[in-house]
Amino acid sequence: MTLRAVPLGVGHYLPERVVENSEFEASLDTTDEWIRSRSGIERRHFAAEGETTSAMAIAAARGALEMAGLTAADIDAVVVATSTPDLTFPSVATMVQAGLGMERGFAFDVQAVCAGFVYALANANALILSGQARRVIVIGAETFSRIMDWTDRSTCVLFGDGAGAIVLEAQEGTGGPEDRGILATDLHSDGRYRELLYVDGGVSSNGAAGVLRMEGREVFRHAVEKLAETAETAMERAGVNPADIDWIVPHQANLRIITRTAQKMGVDMERVVVTVQDHGNTSAASIPLALSVAVQDGRIRRGDLLVAEAIGGGLAWGSVVIRW
Ligand code: UT7
Repeated sequence: MTLRAVPLGVGHYLPERVVENSEFEASLDTTDEWIRSRSGIERRHFAAEGETTSAMAIAAARGALEMAGLTAADIDAVVVATSTPDLTFPSVATMVQAGLGMERGFAFDVQAVCAGFVYALANANALILSGQARRVIVIGAETFSRIMDWTDRSTCVLFGDGAGAIVLEAQEGTGGPEDRGILATDLHSDGRYRELLYVDGGVSSNGAAGVLRMEGREVFRHAVEKLAETAETAMERAGVNPADIDWIVPHQANLRIITRTAQKMGVDMERVVVTVQDHGNTSAASIPLALSVAVQDGRIRRGDLLVAEAIGGGLAWGSVVIRW
């Protein structure tokens, strides 16, 4: 028998305020047509004043617990992927722990920017497989609207806010690819590319929160090269082929990256979950948001084989193969 980290529930939260592309036309030299055709984004949600990453994470976690039929008391660990925490410390995860009313267990944040949810899943999987936790909530939550340079049209039209969560439980599997749960993970980073995507502030440098800076064209080039590669490695480790994949659940940064990655993987677009048009790029929240939307609308069903892949600042990238 092999231990597997099996999903029991997902949930998500999107802030109420929806901002259409056309809203940017008033303040920036941009058009709905440019944003749509270059990125696939049509609208995004922005957090309200005072609405924090932890508040959105708690809302998403509640939804996931409800679907799992569990309460906070059943959870051993909370892992939150975020680059936009409420405070420098404590972690968003401990705020979620308190917000859910947990009185035991442990909680920590993972910071791998847009690849954060994939990194958090890999960490949660390792906690479960090593017997350190039986049930883990994994959350991706971001308020990227707080780190935008609103005068930089090449970045501020691309990002949005939101949160998604998944509950994982240790269950016995056979060790084969027919098992439910996380079947394989693959993680990479290369810190030499830090200038391509970073925030120009921080505690030990200038003491400011900073704003996002991105060489979009270069990040695009790396994404197209690296995402299919990591997905292929994870599929190989899991013992599955592209033909077995029911859904790619990609990081939602750019529809053209999503399409080219699917093409390279040999998976057609009918089998790709795309939410970038409605959410924009929500960094670590984008995969659990897409997952939760597709489970709720009935696209993803129990037993489906999924590949999630993401890349972002670092550069950091990776993928997870999971049977729902
Ligand atoms: O989630 C983390 C990972 N991030 C990503 O994966 C993002 C990766 N990059 C991208 O998605 C794309 O590179 C962008 C959507 C950011 C940009 O698309 P692109 O096709 O690479 O455009 P570009 O940067 O090459 O810019 C083309 C032109 C430029 O003008 P010139 O230099 O050709 O005259 C830009 O100044 O488009 C201009 N431009 C805009 N025009 C209208 C840039 N932003 C805008 C804008 N509206 N908002």
